This record gives sequence, C-alpha cells and structure tokens, in this order.
Amino acid sequence: MSYNLLKEKKGIIFGALDENSIAWKTALKAHEEGATFVLTNAPIAMRMGKINELAEHCGAEIIPADATSIEDLTTLFEKSQEVLGGKLDFVLHSIGMSPNVRKGKAYGDLNYEWFMKSLDVSGVSFHKVLQTAEKTDAMNEWGSILALSYIAAQRTFPDYSDMAQAKSVLESIARSYGARFAKLKNVRVNTISQSPTMTTAGSGVGGFDVFFDYADKLSPLGNASAEDCANYIVAMFSDFTRMVTMQNLMHDGGFSHSGITDEIITELTKGK
Ligand SMILES: NC(=O)c1ccc[n+]([C@@H]2O[C@H](COP(=O)([O-])OP(=O)(O)OC[C@H]3O[C@@H](n4cnc5c(N)ncnc54)[C@H](O)[C@@H]3O)[C@@H](O)[C@H]2O)c1
Repeated sequence: MSYNLLKEKKGIIFGALDENSIAWKTALKAHEEGATFVLTNAPIAMRMGKINELAEHCGAEIIPADATSIEDLTTLFEKSQEVLGGKLDFVLHSIGMSPNVRKGKAYGDLNYEWFMKSLDVSGVSFHKVLQTAEKTDAMNEWGSILALSYIAAQRTFPDYSDMAQAKSVLESIARSYGARFAKLKNVRVNTISQSPTMTTAGSGVGGFDVFFDYADKLSPLGNASAEDCANYIVAMFSDFTRMVTMQNLMHDGGFSHSGITDEIITELTKGK
C-alpha cells in the first residue's frame, strides 16, 4: 500500500548491487511512495548489470560514480539535477567495503593501504557526497541525507575489523555535516544503524551467519530486515521527520538496549 509519502520528491540512491541490497529495497519503496530518483553505483559494480532491471522498474536513470572520486560525484550531482529537472530532496549513501575484511586479514595484521581504502570507501566518501552536494548546490531546503551504519561503531564484533573504524567516522561526519547543512539549507543528515542483514556486504563478514542468529535472539523484536530498513529510510526522507538531524538512529529490533534475552539463556543452557 502506498501513502504517497515521497510524492514529487527527487533524489539519488547509492549502492543498489542486487535485489538483496538495502538500497535496492529502498529504491522499490521510494518508487512506490511516488519519488523519482537517479540510481548510482561504482562503475565496477555496474558491470554486473543487475541494476538495469531495477532502473527499468523504477523509471530511473543510472549514472555511475565511484563514491571516493570527487570528479565522479560532481558529474553525478550535476547530471542528476538535469535529469530530474530540479534540486534534490533526498540522498541515500548505502556503501561499504573493506579489502581487509574481504581478504580475511586478522585485526593484528592489517594492511594499512587497505585500511585507508576501507576508511575512504565506507566513511570519508560520505563527507565527499555531502561536500559535493553543497558545492553543486544540489539540495532543496528541508532535504534529507542518510547513510547506513552498524553498531560495531560503538561495540566490538570479531571479524568486523577496520569497518568498525569506518562506521565511527561515518557517524561522526553525520553529526558535523548535519550541523553545517542545517544552517545552510535546513537539510538534515543522519545515519541509520541497521541489524545484520543478508546482503553481499553483510555476508562478507566472517561468522556472519552466527552473529545474524545471535542478534536475532538478542533483539526482542528480532532482526530488522532490509525491507523494514527501506520503510524507515522512506520515513526519514518524508516530511514527517523534518526536525531529526545529526543522529545515529538505531534500527535493530531493540538489540542495542538488550542485556540478555530468554532465547539466549535457552541457547546457552542447552545440554547443561
Ligand atoms: N548487511 C548488513 O548486515 C549491514 C548492517 C548494517 C549496516 N549495513 C550497511 O548498509 C550499507 C549497504 O550495504 P548492503 O548490506 O546493502 O550490501 P551491498 O553489498 O548490497 O551494498 C554495498 C554497496 O556498496 C557499493 N560500493 C562499494 N564500493 C563503492 C564505491 N567506491 N563507490 C560507490 N559504491 C560502492 C557496492 O557496489 C554495493 O552496491 C553499507 O553501508 C553497509 O555497511 C549493512
């Protein structure tokens, strides 16, 4: 059912790789709610070609951009305004990648060039997106810009490795740029800290299946799905959340405030 929450709103959605991606589900939901938008991803991800199906379904144009390249981002923001016929109301940064995680490097044996790459792709790129949006004067008054985070920014999780630092950077950028963009254009900037979700980025983390189950059992409402996340993102892009800014918003079924649950107790007492 559509509520027309994003009627006449225009935006850019980064990071739809395949139908499991949080950005993919968000594009479907934003389309259903009346938005028009440009889809973008790194040129290398485009070659996999899946994004064309999504673009066709949503009537969206695809403009490739490596989110670490200011040149690509400038072209993206300029072209998007042309294609959409005006300034933007929302931007979703749904991007994460760590070469150290991908290649299974132990936290005590990190490759520092890769570490810098993780920080750039998964954290600093958010600043680049925000700064480019400002410099190209791409945002409408009362726009909404979001990035996706994970609770490893606050707590340690084995195998999340340098992505934990990247997420801390990401959340910090949302606070600092949120203050700036509020004063400039009443634009809000937030991060959503999402439950473990079965996607390409998620399942690339070692032991993912186990911590997916653990989080599910420790969350009174269970893990939030990618669809749930898409719904929350749409709400954050809508006019109903205009005064929410500079926040890291927990979208985790209660995980972040739980000590232990009956499900975990049952699990740990099995066989005792
Ligand atoms: N899956 C989870 O468990 C989980 C939990 C919390 C937060 N998140 C976050 O959600 C976001 C989306 O991830 P997802 O789970 O949908 O996985 P996904 O693998 O579907 O999406 C990650 C996207 O990042 C894109 N990307 C990588 N490098 C890029 C670059 N240089 N420029 C532009 N795009 C680039 C990839 O092409 C891909 O589309 C990420 O920030 C991720 O860290 C995921």
